[in-house]
Amino acid sequence: DLVDLEAQFEATIARSDRIEPRDWMPDAYRKTLVRQVAQHAHSEIIGMQPEGAWITRAPSLRRKAILLAKVQDEAGHGLYLYSAAETLGVSRQELTELLVEGRQKYSSIFNYPTLSYADVGTIGWLVDGAAICNQVPLCRTSYGPYGRAMIRICKEESFHQRQGYELLSTMMRGTDEQRAMVQESVDRFWWPALMMFGPPDADSPNTAQSMAWGVKRNTNDDLRQRFVDMSVPQAEALGVTFPDPALRWNAERGHHDFGEPDWDEFVQVVRGNGPCNTQRLAHRRRAHEDGAWVREAATAFADRRRPAGAE
Ligand code: ACO
Repeated sequence: DLVDLEAQFEATIARSDRIEPRDWMPDAYRKTLVRQVAQHAHSEIIGMQPEGAWITRAPSLRRKAILLAKVQDEAGHGLYLYSAAETLGVSRQELTELLVEGRQKYSSIFNYPTLSYADVGTIGWLVDGAAICNQVPLCRTSYGPYGRAMIRICKEESFHQRQGYELLSTMMRGTDEQRAMVQESVDRFWWPALMMFGPPDADSPNTAQSMAWGVKRNTNDDLRQRFVDMSVPQAEALGVTFPDPALRWNAERGHHDFGEPDWDEFVQVVRGNGPCNTQRLAHRRRAHEDGAWVREAATAFADRRRPAGAE
């Protein structure tokens, strides 16, 4: 009965074991996972746009091949994540419709424009770096299909981060103008990258319950700190600075102190008022509508191949 099922669920969580699709789970757990996994999937798909815009303008064949592979990887990540969400009883079609109607969120970071080719490097280094920081612990999330999707995604994100860092370090060995381009790009992306981890713990309505269920393994502020500590020596090696006068090593804490992101800006971007929200959603909606004939043709083809009488 329900009491036994609940006890079994709680025991699985307490052992840090996985919950699998056929296991009983509380409705609220299912709802939280659908929310997080769908937002995550949408982020991967919307995240193709800022960098995809530079594919036709890549400065060499090598850079174009790398960027194409990277943007295709993001599409793949979106698809694994929609598949993981489908094991929870929702369909990719449904989730896509919620996204294009603006009823489900995606990461704030993809609402900022990409103004120069250095942004491709900065996104790889800082944005994918932040994604790795957030997602490596999610390989141990309590829901099996989500955690397993994360393992492959993290491996691919590591490649993305390295290519971004390599691009920037190549530019830093170039001309003064190229070095200035890298610094300008880092200045624009630093604070939005810190906002990717979500609101401060004190203002995060979901963290406590998600941690109790093992959906999240760390709080937003913990991961943000980890990211700052990881990025500072990388910036030094690269020869760039972060636009934060409060950023300094705190020997007592064994961590870097850093300033407060502009949380009003974060709220505005999440509400749909960031620099590119309208453009990103319009582009996604158009792609979805333009692809309708492909979905219809694929369904008709599958119906024709199905033996008569089969479900
Ligand atoms: N952008 C947009 N919305 C955000 C962001 C962000 N950077 N951070 C938090 N939010 C939203 C949350 O989704 C939540 O909204 P909701 O309750 O309507 O769903 C609200 O702000 C409050 O935040 P939290 O209570 O902290 O929410 P949560 O516990 O879900 O934590 C986090 C947010 C850390 C992003 C978590 O969902 C997570 O780890 N997700 C998986 C990683 C992910 O989605 N990454 C996408 C970007 S990386 C990439 O694609 C390359």
